[in-house]
Amino acid sequence: MDKLIIEGGVKLKGEVTISGAKNAVLPIMAATLLTDDACIIKGVPELRDTNTMVKILRSLGKAVEFEKGVVSVSSLRNTSYIADYKLVSTMRASFCVLGPLLGRLKKAKVSLPGGCVIGVRPVDLHLKGIRALGAEITIDAGYVFARAKKLKGAHIYLGGVYGSSVLATDNVMMSAVLAEGKTFIEAAACEPEVVDLAEFLIKMGAKIKGHGTPVIEIEGVKSLHGATHTIIPDRIEAGTMILASLITKGDILIKNAYFKHLGALIDKIEESGANIVKSENSLHVRYKKTIKAVNITTLPYPGFPTDMQAQMMSLMSLAQGITVITEKIYPDRFMHVAELNRMGALIQREGPHAIVEGVSKLSGAPVMASDLRASACLVLAGLAAKGKTSISRLYHLERGYENIESKLEKLGARVWREKE
Ligand code: EPU
Repeated sequence: MDKLIIEGGVKLKGEVTISGAKNAVLPIMAATLLTDDACIIKGVPELRDTNTMVKILRSLGKAVEFEKGVVSVSSLRNTSYIADYKLVSTMRASFCVLGPLLGRLKKAKVSLPGGCVIGVRPVDLHLKGIRALGAEITIDAGYVFARAKKLKGAHIYLGGVYGSSVLATDNVMMSAVLAEGKTFIEAAACEPEVVDLAEFLIKMGAKIKGHGTPVIEIEGVKSLHGATHTIIPDRIEAGTMILASLITKGDILIKNAYFKHLGALIDKIEESGANIVKSENSLHVRYKKTIKAVNITTLPYPGFPTDMQAQMMSLMSLAQGITVITEKIYPDRFMHVAELNRMGALIQREGPHAIVEGVSKLSGAPVMASDLRASACLVLAGLAAKGKTSISRLYHLERGYENIESKLEKLGARVWREKE
């Protein structure tokens, strides 16, 4: 296993290009199960998670090539309806093969993904949605088995205790596109990644309206065909780079980034006293003056993304004043607090809140990544810290940030890998 070593204290400067969005591409790859025709997906990041999805599609009977950011999917044999535990357990997003398999084959047997370090992560909303479409569901030996003679459109309220669900909306949408009649998903997730999936499904011949709003209307069609699609830029990678510029007092031009997907983060950054110059496809972030503490509450889109909470905590650790961070999506997503404190941060956790007292400096230390976004938070802290930080369990970072070391290196960071 590798660990990442960062020698902090360099002001990052230059240009960086953001990769395609991990959380858009995974369900879009799953959507190729809805047809036997060939599909081409462009702008696909080379990540551990995208490679896992390639393996899952292959195990289900697809021929998949993945080269230079392009995934080409065609049919090798009849699509299998069983998604195995070994693959699904390595990545939660693989549960989104349930919707397209059920839509297409009217039966699907998919391993339950289980929880993870950021929380329990149930799948009740996924099951509620497909049940409403007429599927009969049994759970046995860790697998969900869903089957239906036919799927019928329905009015489905998909709101949960923590608001809307991204992958449940994706799953229900992918089943409903081939159901008979009209489906209305109410309290649908509005995330740009859900919109990107809907756009891909529309290219495949699906009839969808209202994506990007809390009510999605789907009129079922008999079959879907192949399509070509380019994935939207990863807003979480872009957000992480915004913070990399500010935390190192740097000056970065972030290309292939949509400011319209980053409204809540940019608002908080501006409230903290920093300035971001926005163009249609790029953002220019130059540090000018001390960052002030700002309170953050994570919420479903367009609220502040939970996937930026850990990284924002790094910046707030060095801000002037006291920040209260409230996590409303995953109330236990605070594994990074103890690691930041090892680097000299002053953070106290109180249930779903973290109280961050800004300090004047962080110091490099050996730390351990617990999940993907916690790793990014530690990278940011390491870039700003005095001295050397070594981050172990690097595989978490590899799940979601394409070429992160070379991107940071090009911006001037002193960063390299070592064997554990
Ligand atoms: N929830 C339920 N029941 C369900 C599904 C979800 O109660 O059936 C709860 C969850 O426990 C959570 C909330 O609803 O409290 C929202 O979860 P959601 O279903 O939206 O999460 P997800 O779809 O499983 C995606 C991203 C996550 C991101 C969340 C929230 C993908 C592949 N994953 O997960 O990304 O944090 O939405 O925005 O799209 C990451 O990239 O690091 C990551 C964890």
